[in-house]
Amino acid sequence: MKSQNDIALEQYIRAHIDDEPKLLKELTRQAHITLLHPRMLSGHIQGRILKMCMRMIQPQRVLEIGTYTGYSALCIAEGLQDNAHLDTIEINDELEPKIRTFFNKSEHGHKISLHIGDCVQIIPQFPYMFDVVFIDGNKRHYIDYYEAAMSKLNSGGFIFADNTLWDGHVIDKHIDATDFQTQGIIAFNTHVKQDTRVETAILPIRDGITVLYKK
Ligand SMILES: C[S@@+](CC[C@H](N)C(=O)[O-])C[C@H]1O[C@@H](n2cnc3c(N)ncnc32)[C@H](O)[C@@H]1O
Repeated sequence: MKSQNDIALEQYIRAHIDDEPKLLKELTRQAHITLLHPRMLSGHIQGRILKMCMRMIQPQRVLEIGTYTGYSALCIAEGLQDNAHLDTIEINDELEPKIRTFFNKSEHGHKISLHIGDCVQIIPQFPYMFDVVFIDGNKRHYIDYYEAAMSKLNSGGFIFADNTLWDGHVIDKHIDATDFQTQGIIAFNTHVKQDTRVETAILPIRDGITVLYKK
């Protein structure tokens, strides 16, 4: 649970970074009215960080695993140059109309292709390599996503994996045998730490973002 101090600091951060674009505010409002887990979307602070990472890296091709409402996809696309492209994959086809509505409304929507289906099946079919991958799908399967992403990531490319501190549960003394999400995240964190193909850092932002550099 967040302390009063954490909440006040977040308010301070929000007040001192770029404003959340109007369209993303509308998307967030819609998600809270119509979806079960609106907390899953990246939000103002993480969204501005994702955009800034794209500004820094200037990738040509980006892949996102887990579109949900399209919030993070729109932030990533905002940070891309006009000739760069984002492929984003979402398994839940019920979300497709909502996602497409917002991509169509955005001035950055033309940089995004939405793919509906299981990323583990879709990723091997891409006929090109990526410079950046953002992993934000089902926490139980992060290692599968990571291995699929690595096979399509250029050397010198980056993987950003979201929620890798999982609300602090990664350091819980006791992990319930049925808590497959925490187990999935812990297994992923151990897997990448042991993987000599990558350099690894963790940004303790929001729920933790692991940044991996492919050597
Ligand atoms: C945490 S949400 C993504 C949030 C979004 N990236 C954002 O920050 O705004 C995770 C999404 O991953 C999707 N997902 C789960 N397993 C998937 C898979 N195998 N392939 C593609 N999408 C998947 C879920 O349906 C869900 O919409």
